[in-house]
Amino acid sequence: MVVGVTASQKNLTQYLSVTGGHSLHGTLKVSGAKNSTLVLMTASLLTNETIELTNVPDLTDIHSMGKILGSLGVVVERSMNRMRLTASDLTNAEPPYELVNSLRASFFSIGSLLGRLGHARMPLPGGCRIGARPVAEHIRGLKALGAVVTVQHGVVAASGTGSNQRLKGAPIILDCPSVGATETILMAAVLAKGTTTIENAAQEPEVQDLANLLNVMGARISGAGRSVISIEGVESLHGCLDYPVIPDRIEAGTFLMAAAVTRSSMRVEPVIPEHINAVLQKLRDCGCLLKISGTSVDITPGDLIATDITTQPFPGFPTDLQAPFMAVMSTAKGTSVISERIYENRLQHVAELQRMGANIRVEGGTAIVEGVPILSAAPVVSSDLRAAAAMILAGLSARGTTQISGLSHLDRGYDNIESKLRGVGADVERDGF
Ligand code: UD1
Repeated sequence: MVVGVTASQKNLTQYLSVTGGHSLHGTLKVSGAKNSTLVLMTASLLTNETIELTNVPDLTDIHSMGKILGSLGVVVERSMNRMRLTASDLTNAEPPYELVNSLRASFFSIGSLLGRLGHARMPLPGGCRIGARPVAEHIRGLKALGAVVTVQHGVVAASGTGSNQRLKGAPIILDCPSVGATETILMAAVLAKGTTTIENAAQEPEVQDLANLLNVMGARISGAGRSVISIEGVESLHGCLDYPVIPDRIEAGTFLMAAAVTRSSMRVEPVIPEHINAVLQKLRDCGCLLKISGTSVDITPGDLIATDITTQPFPGFPTDLQAPFMAVMSTAKGTSVISERIYENRLQHVAELQRMGANIRVEGGTAIVEGVPILSAAPVVSSDLRAAAAMILAGLSARGTTQISGLSHLDRGYDNIESKLRGVGADVERDGF
């Protein structure tokens, strides 16, 4: 019997071959933001009309979210980078555990389901390799809005009270500025009765993108992008055509770091510079010359000097660029101290970089990187999405051909990365079967 090989089985057996030492040149194009798209897709649950997103990246996480929404009755249509989502007929308020567990962001749809239907059941997403990743803040927020929430047998059941089960606006102060909790509460509060304020809200650009879309759909949200968000509940939301997803700031940062690690002058676009100010500053600190004009960033790396970073919520340096930055620091002059403050287990790429000759020691959540003149290619495994990007950057600068396995992580979050890199002169091939 011949057994077919699925896409996800494929990227378990495939690997990238990256031959380092080539100078890159030209322009790297940034796709739409993964983390924005995922949450904008769940916002479709809040209306029975169609919402249409443009600049949607082609990623396995986006396909998974499509499947999850499909399991709830949402009609998802995709053509190129355009996606139409219609939730006129919700047939289910509990997506299957296997799907939710494959994509943590799908848990955030508990907010939109609850807002629209007055009830929802959502399997707990569980931890992941980089850390425990609790959802206590999401649940606390929903309770503050009047929902009765219970957790039993790994499923969170939430429902509004009263005859129409409508949530009630309330003041909420988050214990930590969780991106997901802010987004979950935003989506639950837009259809609640009365006004909600979220203090200590996450200020990430993806939260702003969600609030912008919701406002276009008829919501009344102010303050998104600052630490206090105010939401005046409305009776219903309508559809929206042609909403462009913001460019992916993490992909943009990764590409600028690809230029830095290969000491290549390049252009990266489109970028919203305010979304990556902390990253641009660190690149300047380590000796890169940056010219920003509109949504283009031209980078000319000099001799790289070791620079310290500490990951923080926005507008600080993003945890999602910590691993790629470490790859860059591996060949910088001097000692760089890299402190991971968001996730307790996000230094797994250190061991792989060490296999390529990097000189790094770990003390708790801090990596101390002594720059070496050059890395040497080795077979490596990517432990998570951003570690995969770090391995590619290290491979681009190393002597020899690096084989990177664990591509299922990479394909979750980087749209067409090897052809983009090949387009600027990198020697990157996908091999295996
Ligand atoms: C989002 C991003 C992810 C990024 C992260 C931090 C999406 C789909 N994913 O994840 O790429 O790495 O922001 O920028 O947008 N926390 C609690 N209690 C909670 C919730 C969170 O203690 O109830 C803690 C977490 O353990 C972590 C920190 O808050 O230490 C940040 O987590 P959070 O902002 O919630 O991350 P996500 O929204 O899951």
